Amino acid sequence: MHIVAIVGSLRAKSHTRALVVEAQTLLGPDVTMTIAEIGDLPLFNEELDPADESTTPASVLRLRQQIREADAVLIATPEYNHAPPGVLKNALDWASRPFMKSALAKKPVAAFSVGGGKFSGVRALVMLRTMLTGCRMLIMPQPELVISLSETFKDGELADHKVRDNLREFIAALVVWAKR
Ligand SMILES: Cc1cc2nc3c(=O)[nH]c(=O)nc-3n(C[C@H](O)[C@H](O)[C@H](O)COP(=O)(O)O)c2cc1C
Repeated sequence: MHIVAIVGSLRAKSHTRALVVEAQTLLGPDVTMTIAEIGDLPLFNEELDPADESTTPASVLRLRQQIREADAVLIATPEYNHAPPGVLKNALDWASRPFMKSALAKKPVAAFSVGGGKFSGVRALVMLRTMLTGCRMLIMPQPELVISLSETFKDGELADHKVRDNLREFIAALVVWAKR
C-alpha cells in the first residue's frame, strides 16, 4: 500500500509538514508514504494544459503521476483565513485535470488540518472536504483529525505525544479505507 501525501504549507519549518514527516515514521507493515512537492507548480492556467497534456508543465505531470501510482492520498492542510491555502487548491486544480482524466477521481483520500486559532483548523477542513468531493475523491468519513498548534508544538518542536497516537490511528484507518 503506497500513500502519497500533499502538504498545504510550503515553509521549510512548517508544522503541517512536520506532522506528515512524523506520520511517515508511524506506518504499519507494508505501507509506504512519500510527500509530493507542490511548491514548483505554476499557477493554474487551463491554456497550459491541453487534453493530450502535450504542453503541460513537467511539475504538473509529475504530481499527476505520483497520485496515479499511489493507492491513497493523505492531505494535510494549515488554515489560512478560515480556508485551505491557495497553494493546496492550486495543486488540486492541476491534479483534477484534464477533464475526465483526473488523477484524483475515485482515489481514496484522508485529510487533516492544523490551526493556530480558537477553532484550530476546523473551518479549513470542512472547506477542504467540500473541495475533495468536487474532485470526485473517496473521502474517508471517520476519524476526523484537527490538530491544535498551541497544544501540540512547543518552540517549534512536537511536544504532545498523544498526537502520534492520533496520526498512527488516522493513517491506519486510511489504509483500511483504501483497501475497502
Ligand atoms: C495568511 C495566514 C492566515 C492564517 N489564518 C489562520 C486562520 O484563519 N485560522 C487559524 O487557526 N490559523 C491561521 N493562521 C495560522 C496558521 O494556521 C499557522 O501559522 C500554521 O502554523 C501555518 O502552518 P505551517 O506551520 O504548516 O506553515 C494563519 C496563518 C497565515 C500565514
